Amino acid sequence: EMMKDVLGLSSLENKLKEKFNLNRVIVVSGNSDESPWVKKEMGRACVTCIKERLIGKNIVAVTGGTTLAAVAEMMTPDSKNREILFVPARGGLGETVENQANTICAKMAVRASGIYRLLHVPDQLSKDAYESIIEEPSIKELLAIVKSSSMVVHGIGDAKTMAERRKTPEADFQKIHNGNAVAEAFGYYFDQEGDIVHKVKTVGIQLDDIEEVPNVIAVAGGASKAKAIQAYMKQALDSVLITDEGAANELIRD
Ligand code: BG6
Repeated sequence: EMMKDVLGLSSLENKLKEKFNLNRVIVVSGNSDESPWVKKEMGRACVTCIKERLIGKNIVAVTGGTTLAAVAEMMTPDSKNREILFVPARGGLGETVENQANTICAKMAVRASGIYRLLHVPDQLSKDAYESIIEEPSIKELLAIVKSSSMVVHGIGDAKTMAERRKTPEADFQKIHNGNAVAEAFGYYFDQEGDIVHKVKTVGIQLDDIEEVPNVIAVAGGASKAKAIQAYMKQALDSVLITDEGAANELIRD
């Protein structure tokens, strides 16, 4: 904590907490756009935060992405030996295997000496296939568990970066572009006011469900993500934000 004050990070944390009406903000030093280890430091801070906030039945839902992969990498067993169940927050969102929520969920559980359940749902589902898959008993049971999560840990992405990375179909890409989307989180694309522009159709936690989850932790850093973080936070209530100095310095600017 003393180090933090010397570096001015706690003042950044307080400014952000107030500006975006957040539950808690943690800022790690550096800019993850430039230094890869900064992502790992966000991961480490996130692991501490997850453990501090574990309550009751401890079902932790996670999204995909390189930032969440860093959280998984930094995960360690719980010193209090609580049983933690890790689940993916939503079904397939068009990521490569190492960035998928399922992969990260399994890795996190193994490192935490916890347990995990996976959601095996294809990425681009037709309406008919979607409606029949959510009626499958095994999927139905797991979806109920996912929706009862006590904690959600998610990344935030720049809208264009995510749309490209996911090889989004042309029509959806146009919708995201024409709607001036700047942020993306769990398959939802938001404009700078925090309004939804597009949503990827998949099973799991929907944005409305997030409001019912007691602990929501967003992990995202790098100066290049400042606009995305700002837009997403406009509609996020009482969330915890774990970020870096690179993003934080941009976020307090205007
Ligand atoms: C994706 C999530 O896997 O990762 C997105 O589904 C998130 O919601 C994105 O925005 C963030 O990725 P990264 O690599 O910037 O951490």
